[in-house]
Amino acid sequence: MMFKTEFAPLARPAILPDIDNRSGLPAFASVGDVLRAYEGDDAIFVLYPKKIAAAAKVFLNGFPGKVLYAVKANPHPAVLKTLWTSGVRTFDGASTRESELVRAVAPSAKLFLMHPVKSRATIRHAYNEGVRDFAFDSSDELAKILEETGYADDLSLHLRLALPKGEAAMPLSGKFGATHEEAVELLRDARHHAALLGVTFHVGSQCLNSAEYGRALAWVRAILHKAGVSIDSVDCGGGFPVAYPGMAPKPMDTYFDAIREALQANGFDGLQVLGEPGRALCAQGGSTLARVELRKGEDLYLNDGSYGSLFDAAQCAWKFPVKLHRAAPRPAAPSEMFRFFGPTCDSLDVMNGPFDLPGDVGEGDWIEVCHLGAYGQALSSRFNGFYSETTVAVMA
Ligand SMILES: Cc1ncc(COP(=O)(O)O)c(C=O)c1O
Repeated sequence: MMFKTEFAPLARPAILPDIDNRSGLPAFASVGDVLRAYEGDDAIFVLYPKKIAAAAKVFLNGFPGKVLYAVKANPHPAVLKTLWTSGVRTFDGASTRESELVRAVAPSAKLFLMHPVKSRATIRHAYNEGVRDFAFDSSDELAKILEETGYADDLSLHLRLALPKGEAAMPLSGKFGATHEEAVELLRDARHHAALLGVTFHVGSQCLNSAEYGRALAWVRAILHKAGVSIDSVDCGGGFPVAYPGMAPKPMDTYFDAIREALQANGFDGLQVLGEPGRALCAQGGSTLARVELRKGEDLYLNDGSYGSLFDAAQCAWKFPVKLHRAAPRPAAPSEMFRFFGPTCDSLDVMNGPFDLPGDVGEGDWIEVCHLGAYGQALSSRFNGFYSETTVAVMA
C-alpha cells in the first residue's frame, strides 16, 4: 500500500477524458491522445474495448456451447465489464479474489470454480456465494469439495482430465488432470455425489491445431466407455489461439467446427457443452505502452519488462508486434532490429525479440507492445517498484 500512495499521483492523466461506457475506463480516440494527456512516469496499459467486444461476439455467436471467460487471462475490472456488457454471462475463476472481482463488476454473473486444486476456505466461500460448479482431479480434492459443501445435493462436479501431450504453444499437461485409469474410478465415485457430472480438459494454451479438440473428445469417450458412467456436461477448456507474429491460427470457426463435429462423432451432442476461452477473448484487445529510458546500440531499456507485462516476450521469446509512438512525430527512419531490457535490476529481465522498429528510436519514445491483453497486465508484478496503475481505453 505504501507504494500505491507514493506512486499513484504520478500515474494520472492530466486531462480527464470521457468515460467509455463499455469498460468504465477513461476513453481516448488514439494512443497519441493518451500520450499527450499522460503525466505519469510508468508504463501505460491500453485496452481496446471494441476489439474485446468483437472477440466476445465471435465466441457467443460461434462456439457450440456456453462461453465461460477464464478470468486469469486478464482480471482487470474493465475487461470483466467489457465482456459482461458484450453478453458474456459466465466466468471461470480460480480463486476467491478472482470470484470477488467478477462479483464486484457483475453481481448476477454465474461463476464456476474450475481450478482443480483449491483451499478449503476457497471452496466454502464459493459455495456460500452460490457457486455450484467445481473442478477436481483427485479423490482427495473431491472429498474436500464434498466436506466443505456439507455433501450438498446440488453440486455440478467437473473431472479435469490429463490429456496426452499435444501441440499447443504452451502445453498445460503435466500439472493437473486425472490419468485415464484414475478418471475411470473418479467418475464412478463422483457420479454418486453429483447432481450434474461433467468432464473438463485443456488442450494447452495457444493451440493452433484444431484437431487437438477432436482428439481430446475422443479421449473423453474412451474413458467414459471404460467407466460405464454417463455424464451431463463436457467442458472443452481454453486454448483458442491468437495471431501473434510467427503464429497463424486458422479462423476461429475452424476450431468451433472441429469441436462441433467431434461432439457429434463421439455422441456428445445431447450434453451441456462449455468452453473457457481466456487468451482469445482479450489478447488482441490490450497493449502496453512502454517508454524508452535509454538506448545502448541495439538495446532499448524500457519502463516495462519481464516482471511487468512482457513475461511471455521474455520467457517464451514471443515477438509481440510493436509500434513506435513519438511525442513529436518525424519521418520514420529505416527499420532495425532491437532487443528490449526491462527496468528491474535482474538480468533475466530481457526480451530478445528481435523487435523491428525505426532505426532512430531513442530515449523518450514510446513503444506500443501489442496483443498483450491476455497474460500481460495479469502477470505484472511490483518487483523493484516498477509497475503501472494506469489503464486507459482507446476507442479504435
Ligand atoms: C482451467 C483453465 N481454463 C481456461 C484457461 C484459459 O486458457 P486460454 O487462455 O488458453 O484460453 C486456462 C489457462 O491456463 C485454464 O487453466
